[in-house]
Amino acid sequence: MRMNNMILAAFISSSSRSARGFLTSQSKRGVSPFTNAATRLLSSTVEPITSTSPGTRGTPSTSFDDGTSPFEITTPIYYVNDKPHIGHAYTSLACDVIARYMRLSGRDVYFLSGTDEHGQKVETTAKAKGMEPQDFCDEVSQSFRDLLKLLNISNDEFIRTTQSHHKEAVQHFWKQLVDKGAIYLGSYEGWYSVRDECYYNESELVDGKAPTGADVEWVKKEDSYFFKLSDYEDRLLEFYEAHPDFIAPESRLNEVVSFVKGGLKDLSISRTTFDWGVPVPDDKDHVMYVWIDALTNYMSALGYPSTDPGSNFDKYWPASLHVVGKDILRFHAVYWPAFLMAADLPLPKRLFAHGWWTKDGEKISKSLGNVIDPVELIDTYGVDPTRFFLMSEVAFGNDGDFSDEKMIYKVNANLSNELGNLNQRIMSLVFKNCNKAVPTDIGELTEDDAALLASAASLREETGKMIASQSIDKYVQHMIQMVWDANKYIDVQAPWVLKKTDTKRMNTVLYVLMEVMRHVAILYQPLMPSSSNKILDQLGVPENERGFEHLEKESCKIQKGKEVSKPQAVFPRFEVPERADSN
Ligand code: MSP
Repeated sequence: MRMNNMILAAFISSSSRSARGFLTSQSKRGVSPFTNAATRLLSSTVEPITSTSPGTRGTPSTSFDDGTSPFEITTPIYYVNDKPHIGHAYTSLACDVIARYMRLSGRDVYFLSGTDEHGQKVETTAKAKGMEPQDFCDEVSQSFRDLLKLLNISNDEFIRTTQSHHKEAVQHFWKQLVDKGAIYLGSYEGWYSVRDECYYNESELVDGKAPTGADVEWVKKEDSYFFKLSDYEDRLLEFYEAHPDFIAPESRLNEVVSFVKGGLKDLSISRTTFDWGVPVPDDKDHVMYVWIDALTNYMSALGYPSTDPGSNFDKYWPASLHVVGKDILRFHAVYWPAFLMAADLPLPKRLFAHGWWTKDGEKISKSLGNVIDPVELIDTYGVDPTRFFLMSEVAFGNDGDFSDEKMIYKVNANLSNELGNLNQRIMSLVFKNCNKAVPTDIGELTEDDAALLASAASLREETGKMIASQSIDKYVQHMIQMVWDANKYIDVQAPWVLKKTDTKRMNTVLYVLMEVMRHVAILYQPLMPSSSNKILDQLGVPENERGFEHLEKESCKIQKGKEVSKPQAVFPRFEVPERADSN
């Protein structure tokens, strides 16, 4: 047995060369129509990793993250003018996968989400419902909290911009900007879109509407405080140049750079025609523009303005990653850095702008009646299949299209058929043929055994690179490929035949597969926490040995002789809907 362990360890540590060799030879044999695409993904380089630290705590370092420092990750804070929809679910999920992956890697993570409760849009919606704005906010904010719970989101904090601490923080921030000479009183007239809570220049309008398609209204000349955004054009461009990984994906960086190069006008940051906002210090006629209030949440949640050594602000600021939708990149990539520069505060390390979902090829909108309710999705498909689909269906950063057909096809194929079935086959064979316990009488490892184990051992390093660059879909593809390879291995080794011819070899094959499943389930926890834990329970992996540091620990490997119970199916299978065009 000692000998076997030594051989196993030697193979595992013999680099991922053998792992790649295995994957390539498997895909040449052709497992599924997707194999080649997945192999291409596996061999593609994920930018911009600068080094990796396999086997240690932490994640691969990049030009924007050292891989070990405390990590603040944020969702946008959600407007409470409407109930939660798929867009909110999507951003929260992406952050959750990254946050969980970081924590399991041993990183100290602060994951923040919350609600954005001020502004004209919220005030108007509350009034239309005959409610006081605060009561309305309380109600809708709670539905966002409920959604996070339902999606199994692991946020550490949920901030509301109507909390008194936040309002005080925003007023402090405002005063800082005043002290630095970045704010002046003037007057504003121009176009404003309440839906986008955004000012637009005349030249930006398309057929009398905002470029987003939202209605705009003419704001009649009124007193307004301005932020001297025009002063920051050159500094922002220099910053983007010096930090090319500040904004991702790269195409978004290019958009931001051309927007700034097009010229920045000073930004109106207060209004006098409505009340639902944070009052401007020392001027009771004005409330602050909702975006200056909203962006400050990323710091106020950390206790800002307190910056004492040892405080959360001291520990987690600057934020490591703001994840936002592409529609709100301008606020995060232009206004936010300019405000911070003006206040002499450090800038966040990275912004990632994701794409938008459409439904059956059409833009999602209330008027089209095709809004996707995430609560219904979870009711229909369950939380982990929903998480799996949304995170893997499209490249993170691109737009995606949702249809029930695609959802069913994907979760049936990748989860029920490939992962669930594999687990069921392994655990049933162990249960039935190995005296209801992990086999103990294990033989020498063959080249195929060692290659599959080495492939599993390289998963952490490979997926770590993908998460470090927010290539969430590639991380999932990598996991899917590992499961394909394990399925191919079980088919080729056929332990159900070995049971009659060579029980020692059957034991060895099943042990190898259990060990591979341990890696798969541990590394799938960020994406599918409860299903992965069900698999780990079946494998008999103790709850305190499910972190990434336990992956390669000899003492944490599947324990020989440990009892196993009758396996239960982990993933449901869904009825494929009949296609409308099939009859
Ligand atoms: N309150 C602001 C954010 C302030 S952050 C300091 C806001 N809120 S929002 O509720 O309108 O949008 C929140 C997020 O949902 C945005 O990142 C937006 O891109 C995202 N989505 C809204 N609809 C979407 C889709 N159809 N698909 C994917 N995400 C979308 O903006």
